[in-house]
Amino acid sequence: MDVEEVLKVADDLVFAKTEKHLNHLQEGILRGTWQRQKYPEIATNCHRSEAHVKKVAAKLWKLLSETLGEDINQSNFAYTVERWLFSIVSSHFGDNAQVGKFKVCANHPESLETPNLENKNQDTSSKTQPKQRLDLSDAPEPNLFYNRTSELTTLQNWILGRNRLITILGLSGIGKTALTLQLISQIQHEFDRIIWRSLRNSPPLASLQTDLIKFLSQQQESASPSLIECFRSHRCLIILDDVQTIFSSQQLAGNYQPGYENYGAFFKQITESSHNSCLILLSWEKPREIAALEGENRPCKSLQLNGLGPEAQEIFREKGLAEPEKWSELIDLYRGNPLWLNIVATLIQDLFGGSVSEFVSYDTLFLGDVESLLHQHFDRLTASEQQAIAWLANTPEPADISKIPENLQLSPPELLKVMQSLGRRSLVETVKQNGRSHFTIEPVIREYIINKTRSKN
Ligand SMILES: Nc1ncnc2c1ncn2[C@@H]1O[C@H](COP(=O)(O)OP(=O)(O)OP(=O)(O)O)[C@@H](O)[C@H]1O
Ligand SMILES: [Mg+2]
Repeated sequence: MDVEEVLKVADDLVFAKTEKHLNHLQEGILRGTWQRQKYPEIATNCHRSEAHVKKVAAKLWKLLSETLGEDINQSNFAYTVERWLFSIVSSHFGDNAQVGKFKVCANHPESLETPNLENKNQDTSSKTQPKQRLDLSDAPEPNLFYNRTSELTTLQNWILGRNRLITILGLSGIGKTALTLQLISQIQHEFDRIIWRSLRNSPPLASLQTDLIKFLSQQQESASPSLIECFRSHRCLIILDDVQTIFSSQQLAGNYQPGYENYGAFFKQITESSHNSCLILLSWEKPREIAALEGENRPCKSLQLNGLGPEAQEIFREKGLAEPEKWSELIDLYRGNPLWLNIVATLIQDLFGGSVSEFVSYDTLFLGDVESLLHQHFDRLTASEQQAIAWLANTPEPADISKIPENLQLSPPELLKVMQSLGRRSLVETVKQNGRSHFTIEPVIREYIINKTRSKN
């Protein structure tokens, strides 16, 4: 589907609702959004101020949301229009319906084929073979998305550089899933097949592989190729989300649950075999073998995802918080974790009518529902990790681990192992002081542990 077709669809929708056609600026906003431009770029192209463009866009999204009966915004516009067209077309025409350049594939309700893309495709054996297939049925719908430009550039470069295994690591709510959905919208034309699977129900490797092969080879069970053969015959992108579910609790980070050890060999095989496909893992914990496989000149990379910067203010703007001059303090306290910021913004609205200064005037950091998110991380720690993190929580300055306090019953090698594991869980930060590494934890985690210790005593 090209941008003119999208504009036609949007114009029809708006006309049906208002009996007015899209004006020049509205068209510019939709055109820019479809081409993944942000508001500043759209404003420049339309020769208007960014503030004016945002105002007109907000009204346009509201109008389209009312017309389609679902929330539409700049981040999900392209995806929603495609999905909406799919549902209309397939309900009208059934299998093999075609809208513009998009051919709707009725066997895979979430998938779209783009047969006319002049994309490089390794499979030249059959002219009738579709050139791209997407199965995002296991992925959540994209939502509001701010910034992450540098992370997206890094990931795109890794993909263009033919890396085979990419791991995106970070605490719950930091935005791994949202970032990867955004990445897909930007690089989907690089691939012949894209499939997203969550490991939330801990599937054994064999059943996951069967599922992947079925989709990637487009063949039924009999005579199916191996996964590596699929990876060689097409350029495939596989995203495995919630990978931490295959790791054991109460063991150091990245240790597989009994019966799931073969995942380790699988990740190694994907990295070391020759093919042009790519596997992306999204996880709270770094798989053990990744450390040995990754490197500047190796096809295995990992991205430690940190919180959002000043752009997280958009979350507060959207939630209608007051006192913008206080927002950066709040972002810093919650280290830009978008889920935590959303939770806190709701709390400030509910308890303090949107007043941020009232919220930050309290000595303690309110955790609210963030607490239950942190429980899930803490339930996974070993007894030694719990001891070490409690020590860090009660040490106001970054700690030097060469000076182990007596009450911490860990030998220096044990403590090093534990710190490495906490780092692999994104729970501990390293800072350099006087040329030496010191360890610390972020304010929310500190508050959580102190509360936990208090409630035990
Ligand atoms: N860049 C962003 N801009 C705006 N909102 C974001 C951004 N990234 C994430 N969010 C929002 O924050 C919430 C958490 O994001 P997401 O689900 O991607 O986190 P996650 O790291 O995948 O967490 P988990 O490990 O629990 O799956 C979601 O509501 C998402 O829409
Ligand atoms: Mg996620």
